[in-house]
Amino acid sequence: MQETRGDERFMKVLILGATGVVGKAALERALGDRGVGQVIAPTRRSLAPHPKLINPVAQELDLLLPDAHVWEVDAVICAMGTTIRKAGSKAAFRHVDYALPIAFSKEAYQKGAQALALVSSPGASLSIPLFYCRTKGEVERDIQKIGFESVTIVRPGMIGGERNEFRLAERMVLPVAKLLHPLLPRALRVNPAANIADVLVDSVLAPKPGVRLATSRDLV
Ligand SMILES: NC(=O)c1ccc[n+]([C@@H]2O[C@H](COP(=O)([O-])OP(=O)(O)OC[C@H]3O[C@@H](n4cnc5c(N)ncnc54)[C@H](OP(=O)(O)O)[C@@H]3O)[C@@H](O)[C@H]2O)c1
Repeated sequence: MQETRGDERFMKVLILGATGVVGKAALERALGDRGVGQVIAPTRRSLAPHPKLINPVAQELDLLLPDAHVWEVDAVICAMGTTIRKAGSKAAFRHVDYALPIAFSKEAYQKGAQALALVSSPGASLSIPLFYCRTKGEVERDIQKIGFESVTIVRPGMIGGERNEFRLAERMVLPVAKLLHPLLPRALRVNPAANIADVLVDSVLAPKPGVRLATSRDLV
């Protein structure tokens, strides 16, 4: 719940996926923001300590769900995600990109959260045969049904940022995309993780009622 010190209000924000490229940028931005009093970031790997950070750690994030009701956050940022290849199966992918975001968001909403920002993907759609895009479409649809007063869905294109893991396609395409940056249409330019983080954090700190969509062209 929102804390007050004097006349100022400080928000409590839940960040899912805080060890990832976008999540890390959102965490950094949130921790540095005067309007944020506390960040709760459940992860599989420990984060660097910070006075404003609570970092519950578990190999299986489901194990942390029973604790979620005591966090009482004002807002949720979800930057969690994987790929079918990395997760090992369609079911395991769906668990990370659909089941966990929905489960944590529901807990947060039931305890009073009113704003949510979700990182989705271009091509997210309910009517597409591609499992990845359909799952993203389903998480977008069902997260809107939870009841949050303010929902922001961000569909970045190619994400720019420091990545520990080696992704061949990204290593080949990113430098070319950066070189051609001024010539490319906005929709095809690289979206720096810091820009995505700004949209995520701004949208929950100053929530506007309703649902908004930010696409690659808004994140250049
Ligand atoms: N990469 C792109 O170019 C791109 C483009 C469009 C949309 N997106 C979407 O944008 C979002 C963020 O992308 P990103 O590039 O920042 O992702 P990322 O760097 O791969 O980070 C993904 C985050 O999800 C967490 N995660 C993955 N599997 C998990 C599991 N089984 N249990 C708990 N946590 C798990 C990771 O935790 P660990 O560190 O523990 O693995 C990490 O914190 C994703 O939803 C992705 O689908 C990405």
